[in-house]
Formats: sequence, structure tokens, C-alpha cells
Amino acid sequence: MTDATETFRAWTGQWASSVAVVIAGTGEEMRAATITAFVPVSFDPPLVAVFLNRGSQMNELLRGAERWTVSLLEVGQYRLARHFAHPACLTGSVELEQIGVIDLGEGPPALANAAAWLSCARESIVEMGDHTAFVGSVMRHTRQPEARPLIAWRGTLFRLGEVAAPSSWTAFAADDLSADF
Ligand SMILES: Cc1cc2nc3c(=O)[nH]c(=O)nc-3n(C[C@H](O)[C@H](O)[C@H](O)COP(=O)(O)O)c2cc1C
Repeated sequence: MTDATETFRAWTGQWASSVAVVIAGTGEEMRAATITAFVPVSFDPPLVAVFLNRGSQMNELLRGAERWTVSLLEVGQYRLARHFAHPACLTGSVELEQIGVIDLGEGPPALANAAAWLSCARESIVEMGDHTAFVGSVMRHTRQPEARPLIAWRGTLFRLGEVAAPSSWTAFAADDLSADF
């Protein structure tokens, strides 16, 4: 890795994001990987994308996967985030069942007790430098409205902090618009 690449990689750590786990494959080939590069991309139709390093086994698996799931981790699930970030992590449907999953009937399972999860059907695959974007069409989704997300920032896992704005960002009250910046 060049100095410029290292510097940019460090820059990306400044981007605070929810931590998710993507699961794909069947039987012994099933595996899970921790990601932060997840983004909802369209409401209608509902589409999401995950971005996987081209050198990872998960990238290889997703290329052939018709279905995959994304589970947004709840703050208490930080051990799972670490576990599924390790290339030698337990894999296979039996091991994942022991960790705790929700069987969705069709396609791979989602992680039990996640703050939210969704199940996708393959929509498109786009190569982007050293990563690949896997775009999925959302088939099912659910969330625990009271669950708090696990947050990654500058290489460390956090819980959400205090409210910063005086009111909800969806309510564009006039006093918010004329506030001093
Ligand atoms: C907090 C965190 C976020 C990560 N986000 C991503 C990501 O968005 N994309 C990615 O390719 N790898 C990401 N990783 C690394 C993968 O989890 C790891 O390389 C993968 O699980 C192991 O590779 P494998 O698929 O070869 O087993 C992240 C790791 C951590 C700890």
C-alpha cells in the first residue's frame, strides 16, 4: 500500500457509519462478513448496495449469489462485528445457526437480534477500483425501532452519542433555517 493509499484509507475512517453484516451462500459455503460500506440507494424500487474488497472471500461468494442479507448490528453485538471481520471466522450454516440467525425460508438467514435486517435479490454488480458494488433489490426488511446501532468511527466501535440538533431534521422549522452557523 502506498503512502497516498494509506492516507486516504485513514481519511475514510473519519466517515462514521453503522456496522452491518452481509451473509450469502448456502450450507457449508455460507459465510458472513462485517461491512460499513452499505448504502440504501433507491426507495422506489427499493435498492441497496454493499461494497466488498475484491480480494475477499465474501466478494467471490457474492458474485455467484442470487440472494443475500444485510443485518445492521445492534450496539451490543460488537463481538460479532469483530468476529465476522476475521477471514478465518467460523463459516457455514451450522456455525451461523449456533451464533443465532433468523431463517427467512428463501436465501440466507439474517442475524438474530440485529437492529434491522433486509434480504436482497441480485440486481447488478459493478466493479469499482479495488472494490465491487453489489446492488440488491430489497425483497423483505424489518427493524427493531427501539434498537440502538453499533457505530464505526476511526477504527473504533461506538454507541450513539447525545442529540446534537434541537429538533428533528425532517421538521424544517423557520428558526432552524435562520440559525447562526
Ligand atoms: C468495522 C469494519 C468494517 C468493515 N467494512 C468492510 C467493507 O465495507 N467492505 C469490505 O470489503 N470489508 C470490510 N471490512 C473487512 C471485512 O469484514 C473482512 O475483510 C472480511 O470479513 C474477511 O474477509 P473474507 O471475506 O475474505 O473472509 C470491515 C471490517 C470491519 C472491522
